[in-house]
Order: sequence, then structure tokens, then C-alpha cells
Amino acid sequence: MACEPDSADVLPVFDLTSVVDKSLDEADPELCASIARCLHETGCLIVRDPRVPADHNDRFLDLLEAYFGQPVDRKMEDCRPGLDYQVGVTPCGTEVPRCLVDTQMQDQLRRLKGGNRATMPTGADLKWRYMWRVGQRPQSTNFPELNAEPVVPGAFPEWSSVMDGWGAALLGAATSVAGLLARGLGLGGTELQELMSQGPHLLAPTGSDLDCNGRLGAVLAGFHYDLNLLTVHGRSRFPGLYVWLRDGRRVAVRIPAGCLLMQAGKQLEWLTGGHIRAGMHEVVVTEATLAAVEAARAAGRSTWRISSTVFTHCASDATLRPLGRFAHLQEQQQQQQSQQRQEEAGDGGDAGDGAEVAYPPIRAGDQVQQELEAICLRKAAAASAAAGTAGSAPAPCPCPSPAASSKGDGAAFPAAVAAAAPPVAALGVGGGGANTVPAGGGGACGSANNGSSCATGVAVASR
Ligand SMILES: [Fe+2]
Repeated sequence: MACEPDSADVLPVFDLTSVVDKSLDEADPELCASIARCLHETGCLIVRDPRVPADHNDRFLDLLEAYFGQPVDRKMEDCRPGLDYQVGVTPCGTEVPRCLVDTQMQDQLRRLKGGNRATMPTGADLKWRYMWRVGQRPQSTNFPELNAEPVVPGAFPEWSSVMDGWGAALLGAATSVAGLLARGLGLGGTELQELMSQGPHLLAPTGSDLDCNGRLGAVLAGFHYDLNLLTVHGRSRFPGLYVWLRDGRRVAVRIPAGCLLMQAGKQLEWLTGGHIRAGMHEVVVTEATLAAVEAARAAGRSTWRISSTVFTHCASDATLRPLGRFAHLQEQQQQQQSQQRQEEAGDGGDAGDGAEVAYPPIRAGDQVQQELEAICLRKAAAASAAAGTAGSAPAPCPCPSPAASSKGDGAAFPAAVAAAAPPVAALGVGGGGANTVPAGGGGACGSANNGSSCATGVAVASR
């Protein structure tokens, strides 16, 4: 097995012990500056927070292994497509990796070379997900789908306490980091935490069935960034998550015991005017994943890969715009771009004409909904109205769980997405080859798995 650098080799660990139960005013300025620098330079951060107990992560993983191991029909009772899958379960074959539909991201993929290349997905993600709201929601909002009541699965009496406890622990760590980061960025200190107040934070574990998807190169979650503010990862029992540092290095995620890995999302990029970039990542089946699967089988343990993930968000009704000095930086960049255009055109027109605004003011809820539409977790409003299908239930995912029979009759892969997905060879990136685009842009997702009994694909209504 090739030896590759992992996150624990290349990223420092920031210990939050000294700031627990302290005010931001007491925080070590060097710690704040280092956190800001690390996120700027890499998009990632490893932290140790004494308030996050490792044994709670194990209880959480045990619970989710049991949940995802249920029959498909039982899980589909928890599916809420009309709420854009922002609560409850999202079936496998539903979320479309952004790199399949985003031409700029495809350019980014082409620039990755050698061992830093991504594994190009050619269909929807093979993972399931469960969205569990964490923290307080606003009493009134313009974005009710993003702030909906939770879905509580019927068969797990301990569900709410385990999910609330683990979600709150990870959210607490991220909230502390947000305070330190704001200081380190030269802002006042509370700006990010205020934006996070009553945000639609989600404990959002993925579940990937490695019994049916345990093929080298299978793409469980294709190359993408996260749409939210900061993503927090606890430890998973199966390797496979890779992150890209800002310098283009692809790094396997290994989280030291007692630590968490955080990655910047699109909202943080927005608020810093691009000073911190949203971090790219993917989850693929590797030789290390397969070795862990074999070990789990030998020990009689579950072979569902569960991620321990929290998405922290800005409040849906808050406005995203570059903060403080980053607003000024953006203005300067716009002026430079505009001046450059004038010089090239030689006409001496208005300096403001045609200036691009990379991060225009936008309500966070609108930004989230646009991202959800792009990755097929939400139908565009116009399309929903025309089709009259907003909120319709998707076809059940035929990916078999150990307790379910294989149906192997996946619904049609969305033609628009398939048409937008260029051939792997045309992209010239590392192809895992374990998922392929359905022929003709409308074929069943079941054909996307090289004959595996694990057919994926549900009607594209969702993330
Ligand atoms: Fe992600």
C-alpha cells in the first residue's frame, strides 16, 4: 500500500483547552492568529477540545450503524424531499456531486496533477445521509424548509439524546473556533458567532454501505466543497475521506485521537471575500478502506461507513457579505479589475462599469437554496411550479441494506445532470471507474455500478 501524507502529518493541532469557559478577550492573540493563518493557507484545521468526549463519538457511530443497517423501506419513512432533505434521511443516489454540474470546478479538476488528482465521479453519490438539526432555530424565518422540525426515527429510543449530545459538542467546538478565528482575522471577535446564532446547524452523518459499495475507486461522495460556514468532522471507523489543501495537495484525513477536523465552507469564503477558500474534499473507497472492511467483517462489526459530521451555518435570514477589512479588499479588487478593463478597451469609461462582484450581498438562506438546487437536493422554484411536483416522494433507493432485498430497479438518472456530465476521458482526471454515467443520459442508475447488485438512483429531486 502506497504511503501517502495524511492530515495528521501536515496540519498542526490547535488545543482549545486554554479558552474553554473564558471570554474572547482572554484568548491568546497568537492562537487566534495561527488559527486564521491555518485556515487561510490550507482551508483546514485540527483542534482538540476537552469538551468533546471520544466515547460519545463511539455511541454516535454505534447508533448510526444500527440506523443505516435497517431495511430501505424503514429508512425511507424518514425521508422529507419537500423540505429539501434538510431534515431526515437522504437516500443514496440522490445528491449529485457539484463537480458533475459545475464547469469551473471541472477546470479546477483538470489542474490537479499526479497524486493530487480527484477521483472523477460519473453519477450521483453512493452515500446516504441523515440530517439532524442542532441548536436553536428562529421563531420566524423566510426559509422554513431550512429550519424545519426534526424527524425522529421510530426504532431508537436513545436517538434524540445521543444526537443532541454529540451535535452540541461539535457545534460548541466550532463556535469557539469561530470566535478565535474572527479575532485572528482582525475582526472584532463576535461577528461570526453572531451570524451563527440560530443558524440551521445540522448533525449530518453519511452512511455508506461498504458491503455493496466496497469496490476500489467507488465514489461515496464526489469532489465538492461544503455550502455552509464551517464543517466539523469527528473520527470515522473507515478511511476514505480526502481533503485538498489550498496549495492543491490531496491529503488523506486522519484525525488524531481526541481531535476534530474542521474545513471551511462556502459561507466562510463569502464572509472573508475569498481570503479563506471553501475546502474541496471527496470520499472514495481505497485499499485502506477495504482493509478496514475486512477487519470489521472478521470482528463481526458493521460495514457501514459512518461519517461524524456537523455543518455549521449562518442564520438563514442573515446577509452574507465580506466583513470588515475584507469588504474593503473586495472594493479595491473591483476597482483594479475595472481599471484594467478600461486600459484594455482604451475608452476611459466609468470605473464602476462591468466590475465583477465575486461575493455580492445575499441572504444566507438564498445562498443555501441555490447550492441545494445545483446539487439536485432542491428543485428550482420555476421547475417545481411547472411540474407540480414539489415535495413529491422519491422512488425508494434500491441499494440493498443487509436486511433488505435487492430491487435493482433504480429510477432514471436525471437527464439534465447526465447531459452535463462530461465523459471521464474528456476531463482527464483520475477515474475510479467504479461508477459510470448511465448511457444516453437517461439510463437507470442501476447501470452505474458495473453490474454490482447495489444499484443506485432515485428521482433527482434533492441533495
Ligand atoms: Fe462535504
